[in-house]
Amino acid sequence: MGSKVTVVGAGFYGSTTALRLAEYNVFETVVLTDIVEGKPEGIALDINQSRSIEGFETKVVGATTTPEGAGYEATANSDVVVITAGLPRKPGMSRMDLIGVNAGIVRGVAENIAKHSPNAVIIVVSNPLDEMTALAQLATGFPRNRVMGQAGMLDTARFTNFVAEKLGVAVGSVKTLTLGSHGDTMVPVPSRCTVDGQPLSGRLSAEEIDDLVTRTRNGGAEIVALLKTGSAYYAPSAAAARMAKAVIEDAGIVMPVCAWVDGEYGISGVYLGVEAQIGRAGIVKVVETDLSATELAELKVAAEAVRTKQADVQSL
Ligand code: LAC
Repeated sequence: MGSKVTVVGAGFYGSTTALRLAEYNVFETVVLTDIVEGKPEGIALDINQSRSIEGFETKVVGATTTPEGAGYEATANSDVVVITAGLPRKPGMSRMDLIGVNAGIVRGVAENIAKHSPNAVIIVVSNPLDEMTALAQLATGFPRNRVMGQAGMLDTARFTNFVAEKLGVAVGSVKTLTLGSHGDTMVPVPSRCTVDGQPLSGRLSAEEIDDLVTRTRNGGAEIVALLKTGSAYYAPSAAAARMAKAVIEDAGIVMPVCAWVDGEYGISGVYLGVEAQIGRAGIVKVVETDLSATELAELKVAAEAVRTKQADVQSL
């Protein structure tokens, strides 16, 4: 049987993710679901009509679902599930402001997904990201390696873009890394950032790097403020779709993602942004990288901040 990926939520994030996944032409089926009746079916029809132009055979199937679980049969036996369900931020809101309302939504979705796709790898993108990833693992009861969150890919891409623009160089020549949470305790890792293989610190002052780090940390909020309604989706969907592709291709690529950390960096028992090898099993392994003393200290602060909030979601 061909491979199948489900994207839960047909908002801008979900529908753009579904489109990207379809255009990769590696899955047999992309299922797109939403609780707004007809919306996922309409988007699926529209994407399918682009197939002959863009040259992909992947079939997109739209399915209206209910919170009680109707319609989830269409998602049955998915290999990968991307959960985008939940509300986005409004201008001035932090991702954490969404925790109450999104916890209920993500819990319900995760339970329904687990019922119909017991062997899926889950990629969570709903906010607040680290907490919703932890909640999805609890609600599915899946092994922790099969539940991960998307954040590091996006934050890294934003940081890379800012560095490339600042220096007027190609994005392809810039490598950056962010770890920690998808929020206030995001940990950019300047010691691992390079331009044409040379340390970023040789090209920008500590102050300039700090400014770009701050802009990266506020990268989502900057776009929310400009859009006024809704949040970013082009870069976020690119990040989530690449993760799903790495899973189905058993790529073994190392990506910054939100993964269960169990002893790495001296941190245990928390979902946190780290680098991990991604394959058919989900997280194949967390990959530790050399960090400066400051970066490691910041990562530990992030872990404790996220740990407290992740404990809270159990009761939400
Ligand atoms: C952002 C949201 C999607 O960072 O978390 O844009």
